[in-house]
Amino acid sequence: MNERTIRIAPSLLSADFARLGEEVRTVIAGGADLIHFDVMDNHYVPNLTVGPLVCQAIRPHAERATGHGATESVPIDVHLMVKPVDALVPMFAQAGADIISFHPEASEHVDRTIQLIRSLGVKAGLVLNPATPLSVLDHVIDQLDLVLLMTVNPGFGGQAFIERLLPKIERARALVDAAMARTGREIWLEVDGGVKRENARRIAAAGADTLVAGSAVFTGGRYAEAIGALRAEALLGHHQGATELAA
Ligand code: DX5
Ligand code: ZN
Repeated sequence: MNERTIRIAPSLLSADFARLGEEVRTVIAGGADLIHFDVMDNHYVPNLTVGPLVCQAIRPHAERATGHGATESVPIDVHLMVKPVDALVPMFAQAGADIISFHPEASEHVDRTIQLIRSLGVKAGLVLNPATPLSVLDHVIDQLDLVLLMTVNPGFGGQAFIERLLPKIERARALVDAAMARTGREIWLEVDGGVKRENARRIAAAGADTLVAGSAVFTGGRYAEAIGALRAEALLGHHQGATELAA
């Protein structure tokens, strides 16, 4: 197994939308590696959230101080739960998205959508719902920068993690490792839905390297503590997974 770092991606879905810029700055100060931005259209999923204007508005806030007054950009990880997909891709690229992920069921031409995202200089991700088979990755994984596994049905924050998907994460890890070996490119394996400090270890042990967490970060108001706990648990799981594989 490749040595992986763990990334924690707070989902703004559980943030205070009246103070979004401040929320973004606070989770970044608290250790967030990415900002997960959930876009819902009341068509592909039964909920309605935010679009490119809000992405553009938070973009200047997604920065991390690196010392001596310097800053670096923190990636905005846009999770599109919209159908159709293609018309929104250039709008989010323009709005400062660093990663754009979409659901294969929402695009008529999955390969074309991936090429469109990459042609705009944005990283491309494919999102698999709980019931979506891993075989959708067969002919496109080498073109992806991110595989996002949903561990709840998309549409709402605060749902319970679906435990029976842990073996799917393991199988996705093997596919991602094989694709990385083939292409020499980095591909992230992100898990989204019901991630908590109680299950982060098992999720990382199964092979996830990037954990989305909405309610687990924003509920309770102690963002840095929540992010730190998720990362500590995930790192334990990561090392546990590596040890099991070596054994
Ligand atoms: C659900 C969204 C998730 C959601 C996760 O459709 O894609 O990103 O915000 O929320 P929690 O972590 O509360 O399950
Ligand atoms: Zn999401």
